[in-house]
Amino acid sequence: MADIVRACGTPLYIYSAGLVREAHASLEQAFAGYPHGIHYALKANSNLAVLRLLRELGTGADANSGGEIEAALRAGFEPSQIVFTGVGKTREELDHAVAIGVKAINIESDGEADRIDALARARGVKARVALRVNPDIDANTHAHISTGQRFNKFGVPIEAAAPLLRRLAGKAGLHVVGLHVHLGSQILDVEPLGGAARALAGLARSTRDAGLQLEHIDLGGGLGIGYDGSPHGSPAEYAAAVLPAIRATGLHLLLEPGRFLVAPAGILVGRVADTKAYPGCPRFVILDTGMTELIRPMLYDAYHRIVAVTPRPGDTHEYEVVGPLCETSDTLGHKREFGPIEVDDLLVVLDAGAYGLVMASNYNRRRMPAEVLVDGGAWRVVRKRQSYADLFRNEE
Ligand code: LLP
Repeated sequence: MADIVRACGTPLYIYSAGLVREAHASLEQAFAGYPHGIHYALKANSNLAVLRLLRELGTGADANSGGEIEAALRAGFEPSQIVFTGVGKTREELDHAVAIGVKAINIESDGEADRIDALARARGVKARVALRVNPDIDANTHAHISTGQRFNKFGVPIEAAAPLLRRLAGKAGLHVVGLHVHLGSQILDVEPLGGAARALAGLARSTRDAGLQLEHIDLGGGLGIGYDGSPHGSPAEYAAAVLPAIRATGLHLLLEPGRFLVAPAGILVGRVADTKAYPGCPRFVILDTGMTELIRPMLYDAYHRIVAVTPRPGDTHEYEVVGPLCETSDTLGHKREFGPIEVDDLLVVLDAGAYGLVMASNYNRRRMPAEVLVDGGAWRVVRKRQSYADLFRNEE
């Protein structure tokens, strides 16, 4: 790591290909007994090298915007491997998805279904669609990343789903191939995921009775990890919670994991820029990285472990680990225990491989950090640090 940081500087994201492979293998193993497809949720980390790695492992893609479809195509995914989700898809995005022929567009509303139908008929094709259902189930996760309750903006309420599916069955531009649900993210209690599977399985049965031939049930993403270092969300428990209901339908199962596959595989490395210790004040360690590179702690009160690369011997103290931005919210860790810390020391934020760089910003005119992928004994830069030229390119 010291070599990589010497060559690339900080702030820096470093990803481990080996840990991505390990997480992927554990999920595959848990679902091995039932026909399924893993559609990696690109939003968690859409670096093209990470996408290629996952494609080579055999995953499909879950894209949430025109940009993510573009990322998937550039990484070599076929349109037939891409599911397209998203609340508020534009007509332009929908038309592109119809034109290239994705595996499924996950429909969010009656109106969106009609727009897709019109776009497909104008092209003389049938668009493959799935209906995103909102089952009104609490995922027991942070409110900001909970998506499956009545008061959330996502999907069609489950009681409106059956009549809508019957209506869609008669549309010349649509081929209804599946049902979709996504309850939320960082879910550690698998029971709500089981509830969602049962709700969709019940709906699939009633649509079969109405003459619709579905191909798949897509249970979305959401499996969490142990940010505190405890054993993370268990794929085996997840499979045990959802498979009985899905098996009864005989339909192909799709999963859209993001975080589980990539979060533990990534770290964010920062360098200590300054320290402060005044009587009556907290001790601060101020890094050259903060909310512009990793906004999760500020946005969701998310906990990430932070460790010193080369701990120094001596008395330990509690520190506020903060970033350089002009906001008090720019705090990566509260009350963290460290031994002596000096300027230029390296600190590492763990489990930063998901929802890290993809949520980064240029606030305070900071440049996007570089990304490195480590594979076995080798490493390479898979995204260069933004230059000042990059930063001002689109301004006069
Ligand atoms: N499928 C759909 C339709 C989604 O909306 C999401 C995540 C996923 C799959 C992947 O979920 P995962 O397996 O990663 O939990 N920025 C937040 C997380 C937002 C998740 C949004 N949707 C965070 O940093 O915690």
